[in-house]
Amino acid sequence: MTKILLLHGPNLNLLGTREPGIYGSVTLEKINQLAAAHASLYQAELRAVQSNHEGSLVDSLHDARNWADGVVLNAGAYTHTSLAVRDAIGAVALPVIEVHLSNIHARESFRHTSLLAPVCVGQICGFGWRSYLLGIDALLGHLGILPEPEL
Ligand code: DQA
Repeated sequence: MTKILLLHGPNLNLLGTREPGIYGSVTLEKINQLAAAHASLYQAELRAVQSNHEGSLVDSLHDARNWADGVVLNAGAYTHTSLAVRDAIGAVALPVIEVHLSNIHARESFRHTSLLAPVCVGQICGFGWRSYLLGIDALLGHLGILPEPEL
């Protein structure tokens, strides 16, 4: 069975009430449920972790080496600032899909740069809670779990 770490960074525990005009009104708990149900369509198991602390995100990435096939990561504001999270992604050598609820490229200029993007397989942003489901599809496609088109 494919195993996925769904890792959420700072302030994402407040989803549902946090700036709903930007991030929507779906809670993190609901997103985790939707994501787990989506992953199970492909017999994939998902474990969700959220932390407001940079070092805990690094620890979760290190721990994922022992059990996960890949990671779907919304690092929140650490996306734009954290060399430590970037280095952890590089160090664990697991495929990581970067996701964001909002379109970070259409927002303030300080959100346009992701320090993580160069060490991730790819980035999905701007689709609200659906970004996570698209991120799971992207990871499963990368892992060769999704069917390939007939050529
Ligand atoms: C975010 C975008 C980040 O810029 C911001 O700091 C967040 C959420 C998103 O999902 O849109 O915390 O990662």
